[in-house]
Amino acid sequence: MMIKNKMKYPRYIKFGCGTLIVSSIGWMVCQIRSTKDILSNAIDLSVLKLWETRMENPLKLPAENTKPEYIILNDLKTDNLSRIWDSLKFTVAEKLIGLCHNENDFVRIKALVSLGKIRNLDHGHFSVLSNMIDKDIAVRLARLRDVDLRLLKEPPLKYLKYDHSMIVNEMKDLLLDLSEMSNHSCLEYFVSNAFFNAEDSNRFVDNDTTLVEIAKIGQNGQDILPVCLESLLHHASIEVFAEDIVKMNAFSLLSEIHSRFIEDINVNVTLCRIISYLSLHKEVLEELHTTGWIRILAEWMKHDDVRISIPATRALANLEEKEESYKGYIYLLHPNYINKREPKVDVVFVHGLLGGVFFTWRQRTKNDSTIGLLESVSQTIFMPGNRKKKQKNIQSSEPHTMQYIRDFEEDDLNEVKDYEVVLEDIPTNGSCTASCGYSFEGDKLASVEDNDYFTYCWPRDWLAEDCSDLRIIGANYDTTLSKWYSFCPHISGKTNIEEQSLKLLNNLLQAGIGKRPVVWVTHSMGGLLVKNILCEAFHSSDSRLHELVENTKGIVFYSTPHLGSNLATFNPASQLVLRLSIEVQDLREGSPFLLELHDKFLKILESVPIKVITFVETKKTVFTALKFNFQLVTPESGNTGSGEYYEIPLDHLSICKPVSRYSFLYRKVLTLIRDIVKTPQ
Ligand SMILES: *[C@@H]1O[C@H](CO)[C@@H](O)[C@H](O)[C@H]1NC(C)=O
Ligand SMILES: *[C@@H]1O[C@H](CO)[C@@H](O)[C@H](O)[C@H]1NC(C)=O
Ligand SMILES: *[C@@H]1O[C@H](CO)[C@@H](O)[C@H](O)[C@H]1NC(C)=O
Ligand SMILES: *[C@@H]1O[C@H](CO)[C@@H](O)[C@H](O)[C@H]1NC(C)=O
Ligand SMILES: *[C@@H]1O[C@H](CO)[C@@H](O)[C@H](O)[C@H]1NC(C)=O
Ligand SMILES: *[C@@H]1O[C@H](CO)[C@@H](O)[C@H](O)[C@H]1NC(C)=O
Repeated sequence: MMIKNKMKYPRYIKFGCGTLIVSSIGWMVCQIRSTKDILSNAIDLSVLKLWETRMENPLKLPAENTKPEYIILNDLKTDNLSRIWDSLKFTVAEKLIGLCHNENDFVRIKALVSLGKIRNLDHGHFSVLSNMIDKDIAVRLARLRDVDLRLLKEPPLKYLKYDHSMIVNEMKDLLLDLSEMSNHSCLEYFVSNAFFNAEDSNRFVDNDTTLVEIAKIGQNGQDILPVCLESLLHHASIEVFAEDIVKMNAFSLLSEIHSRFIEDINVNVTLCRIISYLSLHKEVLEELHTTGWIRILAEWMKHDDVRISIPATRALANLEEKEESYKGYIYLLHPNYINKREPKVDVVFVHGLLGGVFFTWRQRTKNDSTIGLLESVSQTIFMPGNRKKKQKNIQSSEPHTMQYIRDFEEDDLNEVKDYEVVLEDIPTNGSCTASCGYSFEGDKLASVEDNDYFTYCWPRDWLAEDCSDLRIIGANYDTTLSKWYSFCPHISGKTNIEEQSLKLLNNLLQAGIGKRPVVWVTHSMGGLLVKNILCEAFHSSDSRLHELVENTKGIVFYSTPHLGSNLATFNPASQLVLRLSIEVQDLREGSPFLLELHDKFLKILESVPIKVITFVETKKTVFTALKFNFQLVTPESGNTGSGEYYEIPLDHLSICKPVSRYSFLYRKVLTLIRDIVKTPQ
């Protein structure tokens, strides 16, 4: 076909009316060819017949003296060319949209990918296309890398003329309706207090602090809408009530609030989480599509803040028609874009007490300081000039790699280049020698420092890049830190390990965990939950659960208190820390529940070949908020007693936060996962 076209150009030039046209056509041919190359890789060219014939017509035009409807050749000037080009691309795009519904899977996905490559059209064309694209194509487009988001519908302008108080009223009506529909004491409580008349001082009689707090919002002139969103979020997070919100068709109101609070990151976060909870209901898709939310979600998926990008990824993954759904505690971390290759291994990250998928798995920084309520980290990091002079207790068979850099005065990383570098999180004691080594060349460090941006989620940003064919899942079970709880006195987020792990198991099964090899990476109490899940599954008669155990290939424990922690009985302040989210008794040192769980777990290890890697902290954790230091997990309690074991000179919260990709804490896990991916199943 290309040759046929080439033959025609000389013929046309004969009739041509000047060099401008010739060169312009040359430009066009070049554009067409590059696009055609892209397309011919992607789809069966026979479907582009229409495009072909339209393409041929203008070239034959002078000879046959017929005019195609959209090009007036006489006026052909360079600036018209791009317009012609636009309309050609537009025609192709139209055709591709049709093909996205083809019954052939292959054609469908190729058409989608080609559609995603459409670029540089003008606004009008994009707008027309976005209206031709239906909800299912829109979701899949949103999950393509680098798609031009203008292909997706914009939010409508329904509330354009509303002022702020009218929007507040709309919100109030929504919450009132919801409160009537659902039997949810928390929402009732909020609604009956948030919108009452502040002069009505009788209400303060019992000095209910929560009430006072809600009332203050109105009095301070503080905006009530973000607080309403918090309450809506809490409502959406409960599965039975989420359906009610879906029925209320509130999405254009929400998108209006989004555009009015575009500078407020917390509103973005709250809205994103609401949508992510509602995304489980398939019927919500049409509404999300027409109210422009698919486009916002696609934008959010690329947001720097993981509290936005992670829930947005989950929402889009849920909205795409699939067997697996990510609900409740489960977030999809990778792949966030449509991937033609099936993953080979699932990696599940389970955070610890008072942690969460949005902050437990971040990278450690040089000047790490308090994060959130308790996530405080002491400064224990490799820095030029601040490096350890000598490491004791290292057991390694490769002393030649243990070169320490002494008397390092300058902050100049270039000077590190000639040395082997050892980061501070290398093991100080362990049961074996790590095959991945403890050190690396200094020039790598310099390049890491230069190129690596800081990550708030290393499982997503590093692991997915360093090892292909993975599906990475993050659990986020601890919701007690949600701001909402201060407004909702009826709820205690407290639960015990068994309940918590069963809920988690249920969510994991819905995400299809267990059907392919699984590696668990756990921090602190997350390890206890996973052990309990495996024990439940092992002793169950359900074949799906058996599959889950059989497919478990590896477990990583970052400071899991297998035998309990003294913190649970240490002092009232420490108990307060735990009491926020879990029955303290469960975590007591030597608790019968934990001992039995560990015995059962070791028995499973005898019959199922699971690779175990254990890291244990050796430093005290600083609880700045409560002013005490404590080593949460001792080596005795943290040692699994099976597999590889390493003591790491870090505290409880830092131990799951590698400082760089060259960190032992990370490379050890990476090596394990790579080995499992390579092993034929
Ligand atoms: C081509 O451009 C000229 C001036 O830039 C304009 O007057 C003319 O209408 C354009 N023709 C088409 C087909 O767009
Ligand atoms: C609402 O829930 C409470 C307990 O939470 C229950 O006792 C009551 O019967 C429920 N009412 C309705 C109408 O479902
Ligand atoms: C409620 O609080 C106010 C001041 O905050 C105090 O004067 C009053 O005595 C309190 N009432 C009760 C019943 O505790
Ligand atoms: C909120 O989300 C919108 C849409 O993606 C984005 O344009 C805006 O910058 C976000 N706001 C903040 C503060 O990040
Ligand atoms: C580290 O400290 C510098 C200044 O002391 C600050 O600009 C930077 O944001 C801090 N980094 C983090 C991740 O907190
Ligand atoms: C090193 O770890 C082993 C367990 O693997 C333990 O028995 C030993 O006491 C530890 N040594 C030190 C110095 O902590």
